[in-house]
Amino acid sequence: MKNESLWFATAQLPAFPPLTADVEADVVVVGGGITGLTATLLLARAGQRVILVEARRLGSGVTGGSTVHLTEAVDTRYQQIEKDFGKEGATLVAQSSRAAIEQVSALVQAHGIACDFTRRPGFLYTDRPQDVGEVDKEHAAAARAGLAVELLERAPLPFPTLGALHFPDQAQMHGLRYLEGLAQAAQAQGARLHEESRVVTIDDGDRCTVHLEHGPTVRAKKVFVATHAPLNRVFLQTKIHAYRSYVLALPLPRSALADALFWDTADPYHYFSSFAVDGASYLILGGEDHKTGTETDTAPRYETLAAWAKERFGAGEPAFRWSAQVEEPVDGLPYIGRNSVSDNVYVATGFSGNGITFGTVAARIITDLVTGKNNPWADLYSATRIKPLASAAEFTTENVDFPMHFFSDRLRPAEAKEPKDIGPGEGKTMRVNGERLACYRDPQGLLHAVSSVCTHLGCLVKFNGAEKSWDCPCHGSRFGVDGEVLDGPATRPLAKKHVR
Ligand SMILES: Cc1cc2nc3c(=O)[nH]c(=O)nc-3n(C[C@H](O)[C@H](O)[C@H](O)COP(=O)(O)OP(=O)(O)OC[C@H]3O[C@@H](n4cnc5c(N)ncnc54)[C@H](O)[C@@H]3O)c2cc1C
Ligand code: FES
Repeated sequence: MKNESLWFATAQLPAFPPLTADVEADVVVVGGGITGLTATLLLARAGQRVILVEARRLGSGVTGGSTVHLTEAVDTRYQQIEKDFGKEGATLVAQSSRAAIEQVSALVQAHGIACDFTRRPGFLYTDRPQDVGEVDKEHAAAARAGLAVELLERAPLPFPTLGALHFPDQAQMHGLRYLEGLAQAAQAQGARLHEESRVVTIDDGDRCTVHLEHGPTVRAKKVFVATHAPLNRVFLQTKIHAYRSYVLALPLPRSALADALFWDTADPYHYFSSFAVDGASYLILGGEDHKTGTETDTAPRYETLAAWAKERFGAGEPAFRWSAQVEEPVDGLPYIGRNSVSDNVYVATGFSGNGITFGTVAARIITDLVTGKNNPWADLYSATRIKPLASAAEFTTENVDFPMHFFSDRLRPAEAKEPKDIGPGEGKTMRVNGERLACYRDPQGLLHAVSSVCTHLGCLVKFNGAEKSWDCPCHGSRFGVDGEVLDGPATRPLAKKHVR
């Protein structure tokens, strides 16, 4: 079994050089996932001089860890969206999701992108008696939002189900082969792409300046921060919350599962589909979400998923396993548009498990805002909106976590007293000269020590056993065992330390 995503193992994205000198552009796009690359292409097609800067490799963020369902069946139920944003809001969510599926389809065709984009039905189903009524209500709300949904007595699955909502004409594709096509098309339209170019600060103004970690700057009229977790240090962070979600790709004959997308009503829910890559077909199953930085023993999450797949499909050993980050918005919809307190900096975040479509919607909205066009969805998703009623409960629950972790985690004793308490493959905190360090011993016995203080706003990181990373429970930043940033909002690595 490989500890990497199926998409990474089977795509060959071209490499782009780091930015080495100061440059100017009309728009800087920060982040080379689906949101940033789609925006880069759309902006370049609209005649803008665009530079994209990516901290690592294109696709190395959440897009490379997605399950890539393109769907109108968004995570926040239509009944909830209708309650919080009105029937008009629910209709706009339905319309923008449909437009995103069609936008991807159009780009695939226009640029000849070989990513196996395929139309498929989707089924929201339940096997829990207490959720049957919820599926019925979701049918009614989705229909009022204008979707062509249909209520069925059961889902087309090889195990009993108690009701299903059929969303026709959804889609799926190879996520990273799609990004590869977007990158090539954007470059052909004149955009410049740079990898290994991490942004550390952005100065807003009539002309913005974007500062890279290794020195160069980019000056531009507009900046689009498409980094999934935005680099905005505080305000937007209070409106989104990071969760880890786990995925397995298990070899499965095509006949064992219908060519469709599925979501159940468990909490956390399972999402799955079959997909064939280079002739080998897989069950791709995701779920077991939990708040980032709150668990050390994460490997059992994969085991639980594998047992679920075995029981229902007779699936054997997984071929690939991976995990990635979901940003949940407090009021249920993504935040897309001008960043608060900025004139020329735009953001897009809070996509839940729908960022393949919402990232595409975001690219369309930001392109329209930058080029001065009206966009029918811009107000609904505005990044500066405040929905007190919709977000109050989530906002309060999630935001007590920051002060709680900040203070109480410091009172906890360190997990190891001395280096010999840390075995190969283990990560523990340890006090050295009064300072709490995050220490990991690799399989060869070498100890890797870094500061345990998160470089975002100072909470203490926690070891993630399955992924061998240091995760922050406050806003979801993640760091490698040598301190390098894996997930934002942090932009700076954990300081390296020396332990004798
Ligand atoms: C397990 C899982 C399954 C999912 N399945 C689905 C699904 O089936 N359908 C769906 O619609 N959505 C799904 N999602 C959500 C979706 O995959 C994401 O919301 C989407 O891929 C986000 O794309 P993005 O481009 O905004 O972010 P990313 O893909 O994370 O791209 C952001 C990029 O910014 C770069 N970056 C970060 N900081 C900096 C910096 N300081 N300087 C420069 N670059 C920086 C990162 O390296 C990264 O490459 C899933 C999410 C998870 C975790
Ligand atoms: S992510 Fe905000 S303090 Fe760590």
